[in-house]
Order: sequence, then structure tokens, then C-alpha cells
Amino acid sequence: MYYPEEIVEEVRAKNDIVDVVSGYVKLQKKGGNYWACCPFHGEKTPSFSVSGSKQMYHCFGCGVSGNVYTFVMKYENYTFPEAVRLLAERAGVRLPEVEYSEEQKARANRRARLLEVNKEAAKFFYFQLRSPHGTVGYQYLQKRELADETMHRFGLGYAGKNGAELVQYLRSKGFEDDLIKEAGLANFSERHGLVSQFWNRVMYPIQDANNRVIGFGGRVMGDGEPKYLNSPETPVFDKRRNLYGLNFARTARSGNIILCEGYMDVIAMHQAGFTQAVASLGTAFTPEQANLLKRYTDNVLLAYDSDGAGVKAALRGIGILREAGLTGKVINMKPYKDPDEFMKALGKEAFQERINQAENSFFFEIRILEGQYDMNDPESKTKFHREIAKKLCEFSEDLERDNYLQAVAEKYFIGIENLRRLVATYAAQTGLAKPVERPKSGVRQKNKPEENAKKSQRLLITWITDEPSLYEKIKKYITVDDFTEELYRKVAERLFADMDAGNFNPAGIISTFEDAEEQHEAAELFNTSLPELGTKQEREKAFHDILLAVKKNSYEYFSARLGSDVNALNQVIEGKKALEELAKLHISLD
Ligand code: UTP
Ligand code: MN
Repeated sequence: MYYPEEIVEEVRAKNDIVDVVSGYVKLQKKGGNYWACCPFHGEKTPSFSVSGSKQMYHCFGCGVSGNVYTFVMKYENYTFPEAVRLLAERAGVRLPEVEYSEEQKARANRRARLLEVNKEAAKFFYFQLRSPHGTVGYQYLQKRELADETMHRFGLGYAGKNGAELVQYLRSKGFEDDLIKEAGLANFSERHGLVSQFWNRVMYPIQDANNRVIGFGGRVMGDGEPKYLNSPETPVFDKRRNLYGLNFARTARSGNIILCEGYMDVIAMHQAGFTQAVASLGTAFTPEQANLLKRYTDNVLLAYDSDGAGVKAALRGIGILREAGLTGKVINMKPYKDPDEFMKALGKEAFQERINQAENSFFFEIRILEGQYDMNDPESKTKFHREIAKKLCEFSEDLERDNYLQAVAEKYFIGIENLRRLVATYAAQTGLAKPVERPKSGVRQKNKPEENAKKSQRLLITWITDEPSLYEKIKKYITVDDFTEELYRKVAERLFADMDAGNFNPAGIISTFEDAEEQHEAAELFNTSLPELGTKQEREKAFHDILLAVKKNSYEYFSARLGSDVNALNQVIEGKKALEELAKLHISLD
């Protein structure tokens, strides 16, 4: 772990979750808990609850839960160490310095210096734009209908005609020539010495998700080549792993992210209130950027140019989003070229309409495909249908594929059974997906046995944390090994040990996991929805059933491992005895 466990726990204990969460959302006390509208999904009636006694939150609407760390991580999009630092500062806890090697220190230093010189250069450009020298740049941006406030928010600037000024300024601030060069801010020439890389351009500082200036894009005013000049890749500027506007978009909480092509599009969108807009950095959208987006949303709307190149880029983008497991939709910009022009011409209400009407990426792909075939020619039309069948094979889930199949058949007037057969043929040939199975009578498939086993283990842990006194009543019958899911076992181990020591502390257990995914899963264990039952007898029976289910699963689990697991025989013998006793036992819930 990055920080020692004791410190992590100390910081957590000193940050009361009710206090911390109420700094972000308005909480209302109702019963023993505090309630609010969930900050992690859109809702109008509060289903987000914060428990002071458990030091945890849970949303009954979208199912998120966790402790004070996972809340900060989720709300601020922080990593675990970042959340620890924030909360340590809040509670006045001093964190130990992390030990680095000399080489690591030197590298971290260099990166820090590069970020400093970028920040200083951004300041220089910023003031130039607002000085008499920068009038031409300022007027250009005004002509593009940017408000002063927008220019300020994005830190827009101007690189003047005198390329020596920037260098002089940076030197005066104590930056060495080779650092200025490494940052891509200036080039060396025989005739002029070190001169600014950017010359007579309006400057767009590019910030990472933490608001640090990592590079620049400079736009020529009027027509000139190249239209945009970008900083080269440097140790702090990785174009594949950053997105323009993400520093604002990451907290937009709009339920989606809008991916645009250009810097100017992002700025125009933000000015109109669509602060969830981002763009790639002068290069095509990458898988790394898709993964980055995945930290913030599941829904990406593509707002690419409406021309041929834009459509091609959108098709590529859809593939990358799909690979990353994101849902992509395409916003229709026609008859305008890009979001910037659209916004100027029709305004934000019209754009919101287009967002609402965004086209599902599969239908977008099919529609583009359609344009390549002549629907009046049977042969061409058949080819088109074959292509549809091939595309359908890309869905690996039967139900999803069949839903799309039905929808596309209806839309393009294709016989549904014919299309099904065609898909089955292609699926068999290419092996991309299994042949389509007909959905059985519409009844949902039953859960897998492992899922049921996991569910009862989760229910048991939640129930014990909700009513800690139950632990004493059942500890004779239950062991840590009954939790056959590894992560569950780790949680149970800690929970039972804490309870044995008279120290009930579920929120602390979550942070013993390092990985955000594991923390999330651990938190879920304490917040499974318990059955809503009226009478005491019903509740007692339900609890008894859960206990039996956990025991029975563990008995079967170890029986299957006799011979391969040394621990198994013991577990099976003990398990059998416990099961027999449990069958007769009455556990009272009061
Ligand atoms: P566009 O030409 O669509 O940019 O290129 P734009 O933002 O709409 O520009 P304006 O409205 O004419 O000012 C899309 C993106 O491609 C990159 C930039 O990132 C730009 O924002 N690009 C374009 C370059 O890096 N270099 C270029 O010469 C052109
Ligand atoms: Mn444009």
C-alpha cells in the first residue's frame, strides 16, 4: 500500500463521512441516517443515504456504496492516494514522505520543472493577449464570439510577433534554455538563437485532468499553414492519454461526455453550458483516451464534423469506444460543419435537441453503409443485407444481437427470419459470435449457482453489519472459509476479527483494499438490499435461510475439492455438523 495502513485508517477515522459528504451535497436527517439526491446518478427524490454509525454511504437507486475515501474518489475522480492526501489535509494529519530513489527524484523534478515552465509560458501568453500587442489576437477571438469570461476560463493567450520576448521572459524567471527547448516552447536557430516556437498565434493552453498546463495549441489568425501548431510530445505531454477540456468535463455530471474534433468546438460548447465536451489533441481519438473517459462515464456522444472526414473519424471512434466497453452515440450536426458553427447558428436549445436525438452507433454505421449501395438494384441490396448480417455478428450477447436484429429488420424492411438465417450462416463461418438462439418464451434465465452463492454471502455480511449482535449468535456455526469468494473471505476475516476484538468498523475494512474496483466490491458487501419483511417470524426465517444457504454452498464447495485441497476434509466434516445443528436451531432477531 502507498501509505501505511494505520495512517490510512487514522485519516479515515478523523473525517466523519456525514461532515465530508455534506460539503458536497445537501443532506437531510431522516431516522438514523442522512439522505440526499444521489450525486452519482440523476434523480429527483433522494435515495442516497449516509450512515454515521457505519461511516458509509449507499444509494438505493443506482447501488453505489462505499466509505469516505471511495466517496471522494468517485466525486472528485481521484485515485486512492489523492483521496488520502485530500482528507489528511482536511483533518490536519501529516502524511509521511514517500521514499524515492535518486533517479525517481530526478525524473519527478524534471517533470515538475517542465510543468512550471509551461505554466509560466501560459501566463506570458495570457497577459500578451490582454496587452496592446495582443489586440489582433483578442479581436480574432471576439470575432469568433468568445466572451471574456470564456477566454479567461480556458486561459487563452496570444504569442506575439517578436519570438525573442517569450524566451527573455522565461529566462528572467530562472528557466534554463534546455528546459525551455525540451518543453517545446522554443527552438534554436543559428541566426536568432533561441526563439519562440509559436509566433503570431492565439494560444490554447492544454491542461490535464488536474488543471496542469501540459502543452499548447496555437491557431493561426486567418488562413495560414499549419492552421494549428501543437507542442511536441514531452515527458509531461502525452497526446494519446489526455483530452482537451477534461479538467472541466470530469465534474460536469451530465451523465455523458461529448467528444468533439476541435479545440474551438470544445470552447464553444462549454460557453453554451455543455461543460461535458472534450476533444483529442490534434491527433485521432485513441484507445487510451477511451479508457480515460471510462473513468468518468459510460456514455459518449460523438460530435464530429459532418463532412466525409468527420464521418470516417466517427466510425473509427465508435469502434474504439466499443472496444473499451463504452456506449457511443452520434450527434447529427447537419447542416452545419461542426459544433462551433452549429452553436453560433442555432444555439443551445437546438443543440440539446440534437443530443436527445443522438443516433445509436450501430444504426449510424448501418446508415453510412447504406449510402454505399443502390437499393434499386437487387444484387447491391443483397450485398447490403449481407453486410448488416456481418455487423450483427459483432454482438456476442444473444439477447442484444436479437434485439438489434429485430430493429434493423424492421427499419430496412428485411424479412426477419431471412436475416436470422443469414446471421447464423456468417456466425458459423467467421466464428465471431455464436449462432443466434431464439429467446425462450421471454422468461428470464435463472441466475447461475455461483451468483446465488455470492448473493447469500453478501446478504449475510450486510445483515451482520446492520445488526452486529447477531454475530455472537452465529459465530459458532460460521467460519471465514465459508466465504468461498476470495474478496468476501478477506472482508469476513477482518470483520470477524474486529468483532471478536469488540471493535466494529466496516468502513475501515474497505480501505484495506488498494484497487478501486475491489474497494467498490467490498463496499457492496455491506450494503446489499436486505429482504423487506414485515413480521419478526418472516425476518427470522429469512436470516436462517441465508445462513443455511451460505453453509450449504461452502459444504458443496469443499466436497468438490476433497483430494485437491488439504483444508477441504476438515471443512466438510465441520460443515456437515454445522448444517445439522443449524437445521434445528432457532435464531431470534431481537
Ligand atoms: P479543425 O480544423 O476542425 O479545427 O481541426 P477547429 O477547432 O474547428 O478549428 P477552427 O474552428 O477552424 O479554429 C480539428 C482539430 O484538429 C487539430 C486541432 O486539434 C484541431 O482542433 N488540427 C487541425 C491540428 O492539430 N493541426 C491543424 O493544422 C489542423
Ligand atoms: Mn471549427
